[in-house]
Amino acid sequence: MKRMVILYGGRSGEHEVSLMSAASIVRHLDASRYEAVLVGATKEGEWYLQDPAEALRARASDAPLAIAKGRRVLVAPGGGLVVVSDGASGVESLSCDLVFPVLHGTFGEDGTVQGLLEVAGLPYVGAPVLGSAIGMDKEKAKELWLSAGLPVVPFLAVRAWALADMAALARKVSARFGWPCFVKPACAGSSVGASKVASAEGLEAALRAALEWDEKALVEPFVNAREIECSVLGNVDPVAFPPGEVAPTHEFYDYEAKYLDPDGARLEVPASISPEQAERVKSVAVAAFKAAELAGMARVDFFIDKRTGEVLLNEANTIPGFTHISMYPRMCEAGGLSYPELINRLADLAIERHVMRSKLSFMA
Ligand SMILES: Nc1ncnc2c1ncn2[C@@H]1O[C@H](COP(=O)(O)OP(=O)(O)O)[C@@H](O)[C@H]1O
Ligand SMILES: [Mg+2]
Repeated sequence: MKRMVILYGGRSGEHEVSLMSAASIVRHLDASRYEAVLVGATKEGEWYLQDPAEALRARASDAPLAIAKGRRVLVAPGGGLVVVSDGASGVESLSCDLVFPVLHGTFGEDGTVQGLLEVAGLPYVGAPVLGSAIGMDKEKAKELWLSAGLPVVPFLAVRAWALADMAALARKVSARFGWPCFVKPACAGSSVGASKVASAEGLEAALRAALEWDEKALVEPFVNAREIECSVLGNVDPVAFPPGEVAPTHEFYDYEAKYLDPDGARLEVPASISPEQAERVKSVAVAAFKAAELAGMARVDFFIDKRTGEVLLNEANTIPGFTHISMYPRMCEAGGLSYPELINRLADLAIERHVMRSKLSFMA
């Protein structure tokens, strides 16, 4: 029996989604192979070991996991994880065979926690440091995809200093994309700070809103599109599953449609697209996964332009949602991989990568 630390919660706007994703993972864990060890990360970023009763409770219900403060978990460089006991009487090592970081967004999906786990010498599910960081940065991901010859939505990266000459910026956007355009933070998620801009007058406010979330914003043409997603799984030889569709009932898939409005989007798995389009999505998804140095898993998101039928890469999510209604596990299921088998596979991939890397030389 292996001990899988499930790390959830975290310092991000997607904290609550993580509580649901992690609960679902615990519920579907193959109990003949893994014992779940729950470590909850608070919104302040502190990690706490949870009582085993919480994992037992999660196995019996779909309710989100909770995070109780008590015994702190720390990373020991070169020595895995340790638990600080209640009475501060000392630290004891936390026995753990691998970590499943179920942390969506900042400080979890962006390479920072992956770096900590590398330093601790622990295998972990999902993309490594570099791939996680690339997946988080929509500008850098698209630059890599462009250089790999993959189709992306055109973009212009804007930093705060460029707002000093709004007239020049508006002319540039007008010439390159026309109106409406779309503005969003380069490194964020959940559609926060994102908006559609009808004309030059709205550009500055949209950029300022996006720049509240990141130092860099992206301006893109507004694509009137179907939103298609594709699960990719694997390390050196990743495979893609049948794509699904998210059809938002809002003007775009905004924060409200994602999390607040129960009728915010219609999810369809598999997507009703032609077999040729599905094949195209799958092959671009695998190429995008490789070009962005990803490993383990990713949900690669696309637009299919409603006017031209063109398939365009939008972004890659390296720790996608894992609730029972989330697209990533559902698309894997549509391809014949059940949720418990998916977790086993992800864990095997994590160990495989760890073993492979441990054979590399680091010192002459
Ligand atoms: N260029 C664009 N044209 C039209 N809609 C867009 C564009 N870029 C993003 N969107 C809309 O905004 C949503 C969020 O953008 P996305 O790039 O996926 O960032 P996030 O990481 O926040 O999910 C998308 O699902 C889509 O509905
Ligand atoms: Mg998205």
